[in-house]
Amino acid sequence: MEIAKYERWFMMATFAFIIGAAIALIVSVVGHHASLAEEAGRIAPEEVRSTAPFDEPGLHPSTDPDHDYDLVMVAQTWSWSPEEIVVPAGANIRILATSVDVVHGLLLKDTNANVMVIPGIIAEVRDVHFDEPGTYWLFCHEYCGLQHHNMAARVIAE
Ligand code: CUA
Repeated sequence: MEIAKYERWFMMATFAFIIGAAIALIVSVVGHHASLAEEAGRIAPEEVRSTAPFDEPGLHPSTDPDHDYDLVMVAQTWSWSPEEIVVPAGANIRILATSVDVVHGLLLKDTNANVMVIPGIIAEVRDVHFDEPGTYWLFCHEYCGLQHHNMAARVIAE
């Protein structure tokens, strides 16, 4: 009798967890524009610095009709190019990122940008917004060696 009661509790808790996870997923996708990162193309790591748009990292008018700007980021051990970017608050921004050496990760705090930055692959994050003026930290979130923890950049929305 007791066992049957506990079993019902466990089933209810499991069911509640699944419902909670589904709600969290829906809120993330609809409310916070979370989406899977896309592979926008391939690029040989040794050609990154001489190939557009990565030969000029930074903010440029977007080549994509759905976006106002492209934020072009190059990752290398253990820094980002550029390390400081000024963007207009509220603009619809597409991030294009790649690595010239090892696997890094790009996490832009308080935005939907969270993507692996893999040598040979162009990572794309669409519909990134900096709604509030201020400083947004961009971190490397994939362990890439001794100075991994210092690999950060700043996006200043104004
Ligand atoms: Cu780059 Cu960790």
